[in-house]
Amino acid sequence: MPLAKKQPIQQRGRVSARELMPLLTDWRASAVGIPGYRALADRLRLLVLDGRLPVDTVLPSERTLADALQTSRTTTTSAYRLLRESGFAEGSQGAGTWTTLPRDSKLESPIWPEHLSGEADPTGANGDFSSAALEAPAELYPAYQAALAEMPRFLPGNGYVTSGLPMLRERIAERYTEAGLPTTPEQILVTNGALQALHLVLGVVMERGDRVLVEHPTYPAAAQAIRAAGGRCVPVPVEDGWDVQRMGTLIRQTGAHLAYLMVDFHNPTGDLLDEAGRRQLGAMVADTGCRVIVDETMRDLDLRTTLPAARAGRPAPDPLPMPRPLAAFAPAEHVITLGSASKTFWGGLRIGWIRASQPLIRRLALARGNEDLGGPLLEQLATAHLLENAEPIRRHRQQLLADRAIALHDALRVNLPDWTVPLPQGGLSLWCHLPEPRSSQVAAAARALGIWLTPGPRFGLDGAFEARIRMPFARPVADLVPMTEVLARAWRARGRAHTFDDDLTTV
Ligand SMILES: Cc1ncc(COP(=O)(O)O)c(C=O)c1O
Repeated sequence: MPLAKKQPIQQRGRVSARELMPLLTDWRASAVGIPGYRALADRLRLLVLDGRLPVDTVLPSERTLADALQTSRTTTTSAYRLLRESGFAEGSQGAGTWTTLPRDSKLESPIWPEHLSGEADPTGANGDFSSAALEAPAELYPAYQAALAEMPRFLPGNGYVTSGLPMLRERIAERYTEAGLPTTPEQILVTNGALQALHLVLGVVMERGDRVLVEHPTYPAAAQAIRAAGGRCVPVPVEDGWDVQRMGTLIRQTGAHLAYLMVDFHNPTGDLLDEAGRRQLGAMVADTGCRVIVDETMRDLDLRTTLPAARAGRPAPDPLPMPRPLAAFAPAEHVITLGSASKTFWGGLRIGWIRASQPLIRRLALARGNEDLGGPLLEQLATAHLLENAEPIRRHRQQLLADRAIALHDALRVNLPDWTVPLPQGGLSLWCHLPEPRSSQVAAAARALGIWLTPGPRFGLDGAFEARIRMPFARPVADLVPMTEVLARAWRARGRAHTFDDDLTTV
């Protein structure tokens, strides 16, 4: 019998008109002086460029979209045709129209920040301002040397330490105990970064279909991890701080069993929840039975004294006391803490950890054993060395970040005077408020000028935060200031229709 001819397998995602609607809010607003179909095509193109509409997503039919937008079918048909002509869509009879990226364009693969696509120069000489992370401190290289000198001790073993190297688990536990949260090494699981830690935790404590309370805005990779694990994000606004009562109400209304929070210098706002707020949050968590994953990745980046001092040109006074970790305020089973060496020391270490009750750590270690069996030893040894004398590194980074934040803030005042840019309490970024909802458009135009920035909607659900943009101040001042000049060019081009025949490099 002849073999049946194999059909090519097409695994395209789909976006319904209902899902697309929040992303197309005010699409006509950019249609000043241009036909509606061009404005619609422009908006769809921006969604592809910033990744909110993934490549290979089948769009709603022209008729369905026209009905949903209350526009004519000619508008949607012409918009789709324009997308196809410019390489942002393909289509076929029967299969509909799906998103693509132009092959030979300057904008090729633009939804991938360079550090993800591997195009970035890993020495840091690139236009990627999409990640908020510092270069390595001077202490890092000697820490690796010390780690290498210790390696012979471990070589007779098989090298697998699924829960983490005991001496590193000890150091991390000591760090929590010193911060006011008594912890044993058995309560720590070392991971390859906080993001792996989050994926692991979600895989163990969350069921598909569960609702998860997240701050709005939130860390995009966390929202993505929750969705990938089958969770549904329930957003709670936090731009004006944490409203614990509202969080409790939302948890009760939605039946959320889980929350993902960053109360130690939130990414992207940089806010810190004080002890009183933590006490209230701990009580609410105990009362509702909700579990909290608290991501403390930014905890060491306290700028509360260094920033005002740098603004005033004075030496920084001693740091203010940090509130105790959130887990100190809630019953043990309710809070799972994620930590990371990436911001305090260096992202290249790829070291993170989970702090939880001992039984949960055992379950997580089992799950981890099925995944990757453990992390590299050299990096764990180096991190243990760095943790032995972390305070001077922490202080130095806080000063460095404050100086860079002020330089960026000043440059923005000069180059983008109509933006409102609050100074954060900590972290690595300015969460800028734009006077118009043009974040995606500006990020796309900046990209064409060689600068990667993460537009506001990446931190929101359903297209929110189009009037915000995150500007990390992690890079040296010599990179930050010219970046704002480029950004100002991109900003000045807003409202001008980015039609596909425009040369974006000239904006
Ligand atoms: C809040 C937050 N969590 C986790 C991460 C990822 O951390 P890691 O490099 O340890 O995976 C980041 C990185 O930017 C972050 O901002």
